[in-house]
Amino acid sequence: MKNSIAICPGSFDPVTNGHLDIITRAAKMFDKVIVVVAQNSAKKNCFSPEERVEMIKKCIPDLENVEVVHFDGLLADYAALRGASAIIKGLRAMSDFEYEFQMALANKKLNPNVETLFLSTASQNMYLSSSMVKQIASMNGDISGFVPEVIKQDILDRINSKK
Ligand code: COA
Repeated sequence: MKNSIAICPGSFDPVTNGHLDIITRAAKMFDKVIVVVAQNSAKKNCFSPEERVEMIKKCIPDLENVEVVHFDGLLADYAALRGASAIIKGLRAMSDFEYEFQMALANKKLNPNVETLFLSTASQNMYLSSSMVKQIASMNGDISGFVPEVIKQDILDRINSKK
């Protein structure tokens, strides 16, 4: 795919090794990947959009074709604005499928020029989610296997300040 641009969206509250696996694989498939920190209106976030963007950037200093941004509107509009041809999502289990399928259909309707592509999540990240990381951290569990070392303290500091 020449001059291909893909978008990796999510709330990334916080980014996990599962997300980073998907972003890294997408960066090998597309000329440019834009990680979009977006809003899921059903969720109350722990980190501000700016903090989430900074944490992702800290985790991927070497991925030169990846840009990280915050966008507050409709993802389909942002894809059109940036000329993206694909939205990349990770699929963890069948339980993700119905929700992801709904979003893919809605995005296609809103922007017919963008295709949603699903990458299967690495087996070690099948059970992982941002909520799980926050819950383990809040109970003083070890989150080392779930997030990169470079953002571990940021997460622990925020969770502890909320106690
Ligand atoms: N590895 C590990 N965990 C993963 C993962 C992976 N590969 N992919 C997803 N997850 C986790 C996430 O951490 C998240 O965990 P949480 O529920 O504990 O926060 C959960 O799976 C759901 O992730 P996802 O399906 O990406 O949803 P999201 O809430 O992170 O992001 C948006 C959804 C932001 C992409 C979507 O709401 C959106 O596009 N918003 C913009 C507005 C818009 O256009 N709305 C209309 C959409 S049709």
